[in-house]
Amino acid sequence: MTTTPTRRHLPMVSESAGITGQALSENPTTGPLIDSFGRLIRNLRISITDRCNFRCTYCMPEEGLDWLPNDAILTFEEIDRLSRLFVRLGINEIRLTGGEPTLRRDLPDLIARLAPLEADGLKSLSLTTNGILLPRLAPALASAGLTRINVSLDTLDQKRFWQVTRRDALDQVMAGLESLEAYPTITPIKINAVAVRGFTREEDILALAGLARRKPYVMRFIEFMPLDAEGNWETDQVLPGDEIRAIINAQWPLDVIPGQDPSSTAVTYRFSDGLGDVGFINPVTQPFCRTCDRIRLTADGQLRTCLFSVDETDLKSPMRNGADDDELERLIRRAVWAKEQKHKINEGEAFQRASRSMSQIGG
Ligand code: 5AD
Ligand code: SF4
Repeated sequence: MTTTPTRRHLPMVSESAGITGQALSENPTTGPLIDSFGRLIRNLRISITDRCNFRCTYCMPEEGLDWLPNDAILTFEEIDRLSRLFVRLGINEIRLTGGEPTLRRDLPDLIARLAPLEADGLKSLSLTTNGILLPRLAPALASAGLTRINVSLDTLDQKRFWQVTRRDALDQVMAGLESLEAYPTITPIKINAVAVRGFTREEDILALAGLARRKPYVMRFIEFMPLDAEGNWETDQVLPGDEIRAIINAQWPLDVIPGQDPSSTAVTYRFSDGLGDVGFINPVTQPFCRTCDRIRLTADGQLRTCLFSVDETDLKSPMRNGADDDELERLIRRAVWAKEQKHKINEGEAFQRASRSMSQIGG
């Protein structure tokens, strides 16, 4: 199952510039969450289910995975309690993710519970989805208070859509995107495409970029990471974001948008004549660990401080055993302090696969 990536010829940006902020010698007991490299933690991704109705080849096998039993999954009350605590500790961005989060029954109720955290400092409440259920859910998500969304979409070609997701659902996903346009409070509408060398073709890239010229979408290309459940990832399958950008730029000149948030995973460009933008998330060829402000909570209540973590901090058991907020805060601060410096995808033998795959972590 495990793959040791081989170092091939990927263009790599130097990581020697050091971590942002000041390295600290002691874990503070008050104030916003901070790690030992001086990175402030502002962004929490909460997986609300590990199940999915798609079977993207870069994510999971056709037969699916061993899903978590229902009683292992955090209830809305538990998610609400932890979210409140995290916002008090300085988290200002929460993204709900999966698996496929729209499979969780009454998702709009959860969003409606979390949206008022805006009064306590939450600036963004977003959702990552494969989009298939959006035609039905968009109105309820909007009225519940969702402010941003990321829809995964890797190709605009029906047959290739089926090849990637093993589902015949392109039309529903496109209709889902359309339905979001009726709700201006959900903005921006972002689309994520995982690019895989050997699969993603120039035509797919140009069609997706073309969509962002015609529509007010932010189209983002993500490099394939070794987070597939089957462990098939190979360095050769990484299609560097710079290559994708060159392909688009040759057709439609792109200008980088000035003044972007340094903790953002994407670098975003605008067309000279398009409604939307194009972004590149290059975790493999241009790692952005130095400015990472993200932590993740799995559907079963485990805190992960890196996508590539090999261990996690259990918040569910203490919570279910009666821990008060102070105890949970201590656990969270200790975990965050020990946040991994960086991923080691490009470090050959030093790389260790994450203890879970993408759909079990929450992207
Ligand atoms: N590498 C990069 N991105 C991935 N995603 C799923 N698996 C991988 C992988 N191995 C993406 C999904 C979705 C987001 C949650 O993560 O396409 O957009
Ligand atoms: Fe489901 Fe997302 Fe994995 Fe695709 S990438 S199988 S949509 S969890």
